Amino acid sequence: MDWGMANRMHRMFSPVSGNSVMLAVDHGYFMGPTRRLEDARATISPLLPHTDVLALTRGILRRCVEPTTSVPIMLRVSGGVTVLKEDLSHEEITTSMAEAARLNVAGVALSVFVGAPHEHESLVHLSRLVDEGETLGIPVMAITAVGKELEKRDARYLALACRVSAELGAHVVKTYYCDGFSKVVESCPVPIVVAGGPKFDSERQALELAHGAIEAGAHGIDMGRNIWQSDQPVAMLKALRAIVHEKATVREALEIWTGEKGRAVAAA
Ligand code: R5P
Repeated sequence: MDWGMANRMHRMFSPVSGNSVMLAVDHGYFMGPTRRLEDARATISPLLPHTDVLALTRGILRRCVEPTTSVPIMLRVSGGVTVLKEDLSHEEITTSMAEAARLNVAGVALSVFVGAPHEHESLVHLSRLVDEGETLGIPVMAITAVGKELEKRDARYLALACRVSAELGAHVVKTYYCDGFSKVVESCPVPIVVAGGPKFDSERQALELAHGAIEAGAHGIDMGRNIWQSDQPVAMLKALRAIVHEKATVREALEIWTGEKGRAVAAA
């Protein structure tokens, strides 16, 4: 791996645990002002010290994050459709690699829509982005998006989508957790991180998801709503970090969550 590419990968994935806690705050690119992300700066600021990688769009990066930050940036570069449309797969590359380099990002991310109406375009976009990324030393993360078809998220489908992404050159793949997740990880030769999906009823469920994913061999999480839609986002992020970096059990992570939450409430 070229030095620049290797350096960027090492900035995102801990040399100790090999894993990464990515904070996803890119939802507005197609969902608009998502609940608790309306004021992105206010949501991001307290979480940043506990974040390994910040995943977002250039607009929110430029306006809501100070350039003094040392947190690596995973820049979303695909988009062009909103939640108001039925087919969310009609994306283009919306941010150039020149812009990504100018923003000094650690990686770029795009959605791929395997099996969707615009499958072909999204996979060609991935391939072209990888060509440019290899030239510039910038890793590309493929996000195996399912649009509104959340029921697609089973091991057979996700294994196919992740493997196709890796075959086309993705350096990291972000996907969903599912039953039989080890099948997804075992057939994907690049690091996988998992999204959280819509907010669960309880923090325990999100911690169980992260724990199951790490146990199955995922290299981290790229989670959003289950962190910043929690009533105590920092406590949630710290509990997740223990799972991702320290192999904490769900019970240990829940103890961290409860303790941090208690301290935060007492200090308020
Ligand atoms: C889609 O909006 C983005 O790719 C999100 O970054 C991804 O879904 C992760 O966020 P969450 O954990 O909220 O699903």
